[in-house]
Amino acid sequence: MNIKLGDFSLTLILMMFIMASTSKSISSTQSSFNYTKAEPQQRSVTYDERAIVIDGERKLLISASIHYPRSTPEMWPDLIAKAKEGGVDVIESYMFWNMHEPQRGQFVFEGRLDLIRFIRETHKAGLYFHLRIGPYACAEWNYGGFPAWLHFLEGIRLRTDNAVFKSEMERITTKIVDMVKDEKLFYWQGGPVIMAQIENEYGLINKPYEAAGKRYVKWAAKMALGLDTKVPWVMCAQKDAPDPVINTCNGFYCDHFKPNSPKKPKIWTENWTGWFLAFGGTKPRRPVEDVAFAVARFFQSGGTFQNYYMYHGGTNFERTAGGPFIATSYDYDAPVDEYGLINQPKWGHLKDLHDTLHACERPLLHGTVQHSTQGHGIVTSVYKTKEDECCAFLSNKDDKFDKQVYFRGTPYQVPAWSVSLLPDCKTVAFNTAQVKHQTTVMNMNTVEQKQVVPFYGREKSTFTWESFKEPIGIWDANKVIIYNGLKDQMNTTRDTTDYMWYITSVYSSNISVGISQLSLRSLGHSLLIFLNGEFKGHAFGSYEREKFQLQLPLKLKDGKNELAFLSTTVGLKNFGPFFDIAGTGIDGPVSLTQAKTKIDISKNQWKYQIGLLGEKLNLQSERMNLSTHWDANEELPISQPMIWYKTSFISPSGYDPVAINLESMGKGAVWVNGHGLGRYWSDYTASNLECEKCSYRGKYHAGKCSQHCGQPSQRWFHIPRAWVKPTYNLLVIFEETGGDPSQIRFVTRAPGTVCSHVSEAQPMLGTVNGTLEAPTMMIECGPNQKISSIGFASYGSPRGSCQDFTHGRCHAYESLDIVRQACIGKQQCSLSVKRMGNLIGKDPCPGRPKSLAVQALCASESRN
Ligand code: GAL
Repeated sequence: MNIKLGDFSLTLILMMFIMASTSKSISSTQSSFNYTKAEPQQRSVTYDERAIVIDGERKLLISASIHYPRSTPEMWPDLIAKAKEGGVDVIESYMFWNMHEPQRGQFVFEGRLDLIRFIRETHKAGLYFHLRIGPYACAEWNYGGFPAWLHFLEGIRLRTDNAVFKSEMERITTKIVDMVKDEKLFYWQGGPVIMAQIENEYGLINKPYEAAGKRYVKWAAKMALGLDTKVPWVMCAQKDAPDPVINTCNGFYCDHFKPNSPKKPKIWTENWTGWFLAFGGTKPRRPVEDVAFAVARFFQSGGTFQNYYMYHGGTNFERTAGGPFIATSYDYDAPVDEYGLINQPKWGHLKDLHDTLHACERPLLHGTVQHSTQGHGIVTSVYKTKEDECCAFLSNKDDKFDKQVYFRGTPYQVPAWSVSLLPDCKTVAFNTAQVKHQTTVMNMNTVEQKQVVPFYGREKSTFTWESFKEPIGIWDANKVIIYNGLKDQMNTTRDTTDYMWYITSVYSSNISVGISQLSLRSLGHSLLIFLNGEFKGHAFGSYEREKFQLQLPLKLKDGKNELAFLSTTVGLKNFGPFFDIAGTGIDGPVSLTQAKTKIDISKNQWKYQIGLLGEKLNLQSERMNLSTHWDANEELPISQPMIWYKTSFISPSGYDPVAINLESMGKGAVWVNGHGLGRYWSDYTASNLECEKCSYRGKYHAGKCSQHCGQPSQRWFHIPRAWVKPTYNLLVIFEETGGDPSQIRFVTRAPGTVCSHVSEAQPMLGTVNGTLEAPTMMIECGPNQKISSIGFASYGSPRGSCQDFTHGRCHAYESLDIVRQACIGKQQCSLSVKRMGNLIGKDPCPGRPKSLAVQALCASESRN
């Protein structure tokens, strides 16, 4: 649908902004600071109604969430460098209290938990830092980041006006602020920290906390302000954030957000670049066209600080995943993937957007704005300074139709659900729906199995496994808790382990021999059922519904029958009102029914055993490697529940990230050289049916465009390179339900298929420095890779998308040969559509705009 000039329904909203006194030329560089030059006493961070103000100057800030414990310190510099190269100014992270203070008063800040080192790495890269102290984080993190011991403090009620909680919250917040101050990391001290967050999205759940919740918000703000950080504090999703704390927006879109005071800038603390993965869920994906659209709309409507949640998601190592049911991968479909590799086209397209936005910084921060609407869903916005620096946004919110937008008398074609950015108010430098960057499909390349023969030092190519059978039921009679009735799991284990046994006896005299129906209810999350030592079944909830009801026929024998349930937590809840008291484990009633007899065994005498023998023995640790508990002689148990496995492997060569494929396993946990890679649940497959249809057009929601329907939610588990040694590496697995370890393989991750599709029909996009760029097909493999083959190339009207291209009616048959010649054997290659036309020499469909689509394969130079 076209809209002509005459159709204008003109709404003029004129907003006056304070004009800057100095005139600067538009710069396309990012607004990071030079931390060596400025004197600490000159340094200040404040804000006004438009923006965060650093050293007296308003800043347009692009921020990126990278959570330090979700990668290794060895990965940090590269992740931060990739963010910087991607046009990011600020790195943002939560503080993870439960990791830093696992026991009350005992602090850990080493390795992945070295928050100060992480902030310093940001500083070294010349980026700013936003420290979200919380101390409640949410973040799909175990118990939302609260240490489990907090729950057991006398008289405590979490996240409300409760003296015990407030004193603990103040203690940890003060400790973190003091650490940052001692290291001189706040901006005024010469460091990078420009902003801090207190609480997290309390406004979304505070209703049931009533008046006490309101008092708590006021107290939290006052407490934070009292810490004299001299940087602005924010509260996200908190409409009633008390002044001068800035209330900020979280969501997939924040263009309509308004801060709670005209004196506060419009800040977006969480722009969800994708979504989190749950066991049993599909793999989330948010198309970059939509992310870019949301960002552009935000800046168009007056936003000046935007943070990607996540920019690098990383991994929920060990037992850090929350939920329940949050998977180990926290990839999030972020611009930098779980393994630290660039996720294209997301990274590149957003980089282009950031460059364009930074080029608009002066008019956006110092100009006046004029918004006009033109018919359905069209808004043009012009930001202009006194000095005539000008930047325009043309947005088309229609989710079906491309529109012709008249701007200053010139027609501009704006695709559906997109925004065009004109950093000089004339030339389109960027359109959110026109992606110039290649699509990279990562491969998980299986590595040849290699193991060093213990004591001989020779290499061999099959793994030798050893195993240990975890006892069913009681393994330490001295530590058994006996209780008449059912105990809550979290209250009993205090979250020191995922596992707790519930054991009771049933006598045939009470219900008679034969088949009885067992029925029980559990608060979650997963339950293994054993009768007289034999595995009978597995029941579990889901991310959407952690509680479950079990019905299972059981054949009782004559006399005494022992019923043993292994209840397993899969990450403690991290979200919702009163999430901290949700509880876990069997909460009853537990009953057995046979014909007309029903016995309730909930009030029986139950025996409880916390954790597993293997955990007590520390079987996953390197020092237990030669322990006699490991059985090397017996045949490898396959498809049997409750088995610990161990083997060793030689590290895959090269530099590509390493992972382990656990598809052949059931459910459990995995360690390499004593480091917890996390929980796995390979046989929990994704059932969601939304996988097929995906258009970036229209509102995104978690679940839209997701992938891997009907497949294991997660099969690969990241093994950071820093955790592997060149030759001998210990792999330990605890399998709960039954798996086949002989099928386990190591893989390395590298680009596989790469695609590029560019068209003459796209308007010539100007670059930020004003030159026009011809549409050019560009493909690039990984640093140690070459283009090994071209699977598809078409100059004409190719259709479809990467891995699914087909020729259109218009197709030049020479396309494949020309692209092969230009690209094979190279690490990267490019061809403009125009040059392609010249090389072909004749026009396959005169008078029609042509496009060029290429699909290539990348191969590593030396295979591992
Ligand atoms: C937000 C929360 C984040 C994270 C996100 C979903 O509500 O603030 O911590 O949980 O949702 O990934």
